[in-house]
Amino acid sequence: MNLPDPKIIIAMDFSTAAPALALADRLNPALCRLKVGKELFTACGPTLLEQLMHKGYEVFLDLKFHDIPNTVAQACKSAASLGVWMINVHALGGRKMLEAASTAVAGGKPRLIAVTMLTSMAQADLHDLGITASPAEMVLRLALLTKDCGLDGVVCSALEAAQLRHSCGKEFCLVTPGIRPAEAAADDQSRIMTPHAALQNGANYLVIGRPITKAADPLRALQAIIQEIEATA
Ligand code: C5P
Repeated sequence: MNLPDPKIIIAMDFSTAAPALALADRLNPALCRLKVGKELFTACGPTLLEQLMHKGYEVFLDLKFHDIPNTVAQACKSAASLGVWMINVHALGGRKMLEAASTAVAGGKPRLIAVTMLTSMAQADLHDLGITASPAEMVLRLALLTKDCGLDGVVCSALEAAQLRHSCGKEFCLVTPGIRPAEAAADDQSRIMTPHAALQNGANYLVIGRPITKAADPLRALQAIIQEIEATA
């Protein structure tokens, strides 16, 4: 059970280094990648990334840059210099910002993806911003813009993955959170999908947090999910 390109990215949603490093020691870098977001990176910085990478993990640095094009381009270069596997920006930063980010990491390392609409935003939130399109229309529009600007893919809900796979083509990378194994608690996620269904819908990578990070045996929980995926592949 050693996948050449692990599909599962574990969300390291911790506020200090110790539990993140302890979890990394209990998991296996041949079976998963790790996602470090704003909370953990703000607290622990590049040193923690180095420690995780030293343990053999590839890291998705989830900082969702959104600023003027020059600032985002320089931030992407700084992130690339840390040696991470994947970074991201907000597609709502617009064409010039996306193109600047894409140019800054030209060469394919790290992989660069964009957040389309935050899944916390509903129609009423868009209306507040003066946006009349529906969330689904905005997601599609921003994904196509992201592709047009040369980025590798987007973060999206697994529920949107089939439409985006159809519209953005087979090379476009779709990274989907909101994943729950059939028997797991939903926690605060409202639009969830099983790992198998998300992959069937066209997702390339699955971001999974609590079903693994809060499990009594995280490695077993990860292996069970991989087995579920392989059994139904
Ligand atoms: O614990 P859980 O599996 O819900 O964690 C999901 C991870 O994916 C968290 O780090 C969360 O911030 C992130 N995420 C999400 N929904 C989005 C974008 C990111 O749950 N739309």
